[in-house]
Amino acid sequence: MSSNSAAPLMLAVVAILVGAVAIGLNYITSGPEGPAGPVGAQGAAGAQGERGPQGASGAQGAAGAQGPAGAQGPPGQAGAAGPQGPAGTQGPAGPQGQAGQQGAAGAKGDPGAAPSLEAIQRMVREEVEKTASAAALAEGGRLYDTWWKVDAGATAPTVNNPLWSLQTKNTRTGGDTWRCKECHGWDYTGKDGAYGSGSHATGFKGVYDTRIKSTRELVNILKGSANPAHNFSTVMSSAALTKLATFIAGGGLIDESTYIDYTTKKPIGSNATHGKELFNSVCSTCHGPDGRTLKFDGKDVVGTIANDNPWEFLHKVRFGQPGTPMPAGIERGWTVKDALDVLGYSQTLPKE
Ligand code: HEC
Ligand code: HEC
Repeated sequence: MSSNSAAPLMLAVVAILVGAVAIGLNYITSGPEGPAGPVGAQGAAGAQGERGPQGASGAQGAAGAQGPAGAQGPPGQAGAAGPQGPAGTQGPAGPQGQAGQQGAAGAKGDPGAAPSLEAIQRMVREEVEKTASAAALAEGGRLYDTWWKVDAGATAPTVNNPLWSLQTKNTRTGGDTWRCKECHGWDYTGKDGAYGSGSHATGFKGVYDTRIKSTRELVNILKGSANPAHNFSTVMSSAALTKLATFIAGGGLIDESTYIDYTTKKPIGSNATHGKELFNSVCSTCHGPDGRTLKFDGKDVVGTIANDNPWEFLHKVRFGQPGTPMPAGIERGWTVKDALDVLGYSQTLPKE
């Protein structure tokens, strides 16, 4: 606006000059000077400011709210009065000062209000849910299991995770102390779930409640934003961190308490007949029809894991076994119920 104030000033000068000319004429006719010219009419009100530009586009392409119209410009400056003439007979009145010029356009309106953080998070989440492919979710699930077997270039840590000293119940050391599942549980609920007691108990909370966070926020948590000791960016790639966040926020986590009875470790509402069909068409190729072809840790078989740790079993059947060609159920289009049916059948298989 300040750059426009010169125009009314100029006009005031013009008005003064015009008044001066009138005075000069009075001298020529040698009559006494007339009184001062009347005050110039007040300038017209400034035109209404231009409309503000459209608000910035919201995240994920949602249009921002339109900005408010600009403020009305100030009234133009009034024309200046002519100067008082010297005494004498009354001369003609000085010409009226010119009207002030139209006020400058109002300032640009503010951009439309940006969408709230919550709205942005919701949009991002919905986008992630739409686009998180089964393959990306499965990879995130395997990273959650044992990330260094999945993230190319990463190596298994040998020293304990810096957070490990915050707990004393779980006596594992080295690489194990860096697995997401070791602190947050196969059922994603940490101390509030299956790892609330037993040799794996740490007392650390789960991640299930953080599935409503944005992937950006989750990546930051994995970079130590909430706790500098919870920084995994030094040991794994940023692509892996993003996949972990996608796994959490993009639909990988399920409420296992609705699928497994925590007291009996039995699946809730499992169809073992359907599970047997799935097992024989997919799992038996590698594990054998009785699940005993491959031995884990030299002793365990499919039936052992299914009965001892149904939460781990569900996780592995849904997302696969890190570093092996074991397929991820979700990549075959399996629902949680399908995996649950396989769990029900696998619990009937030999445990050794
Ligand atoms: C050594 C144990 C440990 C490991 C390993 C670990 N975390 Fe954590 N994590 C924690 C602790 C402790 C917290 C802080 C919990 C709190 O706020 O009380 C935490 C917090 C989190 C949170 C935020 C929880 C919240 O409610 O705000 C997320 C998400 C998370 N971890 C994900 C992961 C993922 C993914 C991995 C695997 C890369 C992982 N964590 C590995 C111990 C661990
Ligand atoms: C392409 C081969 C292959 C197929 C198919 C396969 N698995 Fe596996 N599975 C493996 C391998 C390899 C391991 C790791 C063995 C080891 O750790 O020594 C494994 C590990 C497991 C484990 C134990 C994980 C652990 O560390 O305790 C379970 C449980 C399991 N598989 C169940 C299944 C089920 C159920 C199916 C069918 C849905 C299945 N697997 C299909 C190859 C396969």
